[in-house]
Amino acid sequence: MRDNGWPAERIDTESAHSARIYDYIIGGKDYYPADKEAGDAMAREWPALPIHMRANRDFMNRAVRYLAEEAGVRQFLDIGTGIPTSPNLHEIAQAVAPDSRVVYVDNDPIVLTLSQGLLSSTPEGKTTYVEADMRDPAAILGAPELRDTLDLGKPVALTVIAIVHFVLDEDDAYGIVNRLLEPLPSGSYLAMSVGTADFAPEEVGRVAREYAARDMPMRLRTEAEAARFFDGLELVEPGVAQVHKWHPDARSTEGIKDEDIAMYGAVARKP
Ligand SMILES: C[S@@+](CC[C@H](N)C(=O)[O-])C[C@H]1O[C@@H](n2cnc3c(N)ncnc32)[C@H](O)[C@@H]1O
Repeated sequence: MRDNGWPAERIDTESAHSARIYDYIIGGKDYYPADKEAGDAMAREWPALPIHMRANRDFMNRAVRYLAEEAGVRQFLDIGTGIPTSPNLHEIAQAVAPDSRVVYVDNDPIVLTLSQGLLSSTPEGKTTYVEADMRDPAAILGAPELRDTLDLGKPVALTVIAIVHFVLDEDDAYGIVNRLLEPLPSGSYLAMSVGTADFAPEEVGRVAREYAARDMPMRLRTEAEAARFFDGLELVEPGVAQVHKWHPDARSTEGIKDEDIAMYGAVARKP
């Protein structure tokens, strides 16, 4: 663990947490033995897990670059940010447009503890961190830090990357995303990646059982269920695709088989 001087007493180091398992698998340093044990157990069930998680992170990178470069978006609301992992979303956006403004949201205390790594904004832009639960969109939208950072009169990209598989049907994942999009003006965007068991049902099912056994139940979704998040929006080509096939580059597809990737991704514009 890094010693960054932030209070860490709220961090439960005995149980595995999704942010830290992800950090462990994609090669970070901010995890505890419980997270390593969980990640190792999951990778035994599905050896492609690291390929899949890395492909998701690379999708985030390409989607944000698209939003900044091609769509001209300068404001981002990122839900389920995760442990800082360079390049972070603001670094990608600000490399294109230094005046980009980013609000990061996560509910894991470890992300708050390490959030300094998300606050290295350019002087022209701004980044801020809100500790909130995605299942409470009113708290996110009402956060003073959000209001101080984003101008909701101008387009915002709502990025919901690799989190919605932790939102169960009883918590109404579609309603949450719609409520977060509601105050954003025309010309705003939604970028999402959505976990699926469509391509390796048995293996991904076993990984989901490992998460559930550690108190992190999952809701994996079919292509049609992933597409439903984008109802009423204008999908950017190629629409809903496995993340490695969304605006692919050489690195995103080389040597990667469809059954290695358990995530759909898409970007869409609010009309
Ligand atoms: C797999 S990581 C994804 C990180 C990053 N978005 C990416 O794709 O590289 C999922 C993140 O979602 C966060 N998360 C899970 N459930 C959440 C909730 N209900 N509200 C806010 N954050 C949540 C976790 O703490 C974790 O940091």
